[in-house]
Amino acid sequence: MKIIHISAECYPIAKVGGLADVVGALPKYQNALGLKSSVIMPFYDNKFTADNTFVSVYKSQVLLNEVAHDFEVLILKENSLDFDVFFIDVPSLLFKDYVYSFDDTDRFLAFQIAALDWILTLDEKPNIFHCHDHHTGLVPFMLQESFKYESLNKIPVITTIHNAQYQGGFGYDKLGFIPEFDKENVGLLDWNGQINPLAAAIKCAWRVTTVSPSYMEELKLEANGLQDLLKAESQKCVGILNGIDAAVWNPEKDEYLISNFSEKNVNLGRGKNKKWLCETFNLDTSKPLFAFIGRLVYEKGSDLLPEVFQTILKEKNCSILLLGSGNKEVEEELKALKEEHKGNYDAFIGYDEKLSHIIYGGADFLLMPSRVEPCGLNQMYSLRYGTIPIVRSTGGLKDTVVDIANENGFGICHDEVTVAEIEHAIQRGITLYKDQDKFKKTRKYIMKIDHSWDASASEYIELYKSIN
Ligand code: ADP
Ligand code: GLC
Repeated sequence: MKIIHISAECYPIAKVGGLADVVGALPKYQNALGLKSSVIMPFYDNKFTADNTFVSVYKSQVLLNEVAHDFEVLILKENSLDFDVFFIDVPSLLFKDYVYSFDDTDRFLAFQIAALDWILTLDEKPNIFHCHDHHTGLVPFMLQESFKYESLNKIPVITTIHNAQYQGGFGYDKLGFIPEFDKENVGLLDWNGQINPLAAAIKCAWRVTTVSPSYMEELKLEANGLQDLLKAESQKCVGILNGIDAAVWNPEKDEYLISNFSEKNVNLGRGKNKKWLCETFNLDTSKPLFAFIGRLVYEKGSDLLPEVFQTILKEKNCSILLLGSGNKEVEEELKALKEEHKGNYDAFIGYDEKLSHIIYGGADFLLMPSRVEPCGLNQMYSLRYGTIPIVRSTGGLKDTVVDIANENGFGICHDEVTVAEIEHAIQRGITLYKDQDKFKKTRKYIMKIDHSWDASASEYIELYKSIN
């Protein structure tokens, strides 16, 4: 079976968040299970494209509002990834040093149209299109409705919602950008008077998945306005928990770590990583180290962190290290705490893949006080590396972390996203850390939990088979 994933991100080529990790891992696992899975993504101006050599396999023009933009389909001259990647290179629109910005509508429209134009020319068509998030949300609509793609409309298409907060809505002034279709069906594009690519995908895809079972249930109650649509389409919707790429996220081999380790020498290995973190960020090694890694946005609960940190740090019985970027006000508040709490706190405002790995391999606890978390990969990386997750029970966090007070529990969970509950959860972590015996046993236990893609990759295959 030939699967084509269509996505804006794919690790290690271009990553903003977890979408990249998923699209960079799932095809690999699917190929290992005997499928022929590949990825189509935009060709960005970034380190990966600068460091590699590409070969052109197709050249044409994509029409956007009657303006023709040259495009090429590129492949890697030497591909060391475990799956094929087809890059859509539209120099005038896509070749930018960012993935997302103010001009997403035009850029991703051009991307989707160029991708389908190219697929039209292929002798061997895919058996499944697997689209990810709203940036590829118009693919299911165009396959079903646009006259020029009629020959592709029997190919099943799946949309995976990684995050329903973002829907990519735009005005009807751009309706003409979409390749011609019967205007009687324009309602398929619509949600609340706008063209809404995510809504269109939910209406037109053959199956809609999201990245954890709990998030699927939550979406039917609250999906940034799309809850009623998801309820109405619920027979074709299913939640499949993401996995992690156990080859990339392997503490025994991870090249980013200061010291590699397994369950057997976890105390020693993690001790060295923690020491490096504490020396680098001027923190006290003897105290439990709490970390946060992520986008500083409302959904992640990051706006509450400055107040939480301010209170917790007054007691001077733990250290805190934050890695992230996003909301400028939150960034400033987090930076402002540095002076007062020197020696117990630091924040690295920015994106740093290597540092994130060392934090998973060296911090004692990872904070995820998310308001919304469709799946969350950070907690699964922490488990694999032996960092105890402290999470708000929502979405994928609810599906992957069991509170230590329960039978076979191993993490710390809270129900509400309030300063008081997050503080209380951190206090529980400090108490657990004092009981070194229990703390170390828990650490070993979580490292053995298998969240690799093996199980979920098969679930996707079953889903593909059910519509093929
Ligand atoms: P989301 O996709 O909503 O941001 P996920 O938990 O699914 O959340 O995935 C986040 C991914 O991005 C993880 O791989 C995490 O390690 C990484 N990440 C987030 N922020 C940073 C950062 N500032 N530096 C390095 N990696 C980061
Ligand atoms: C989104 C979600 C995150 C999920 C990721 C990968 O970015 O916010 O929870 O883990 O996609 O599916």
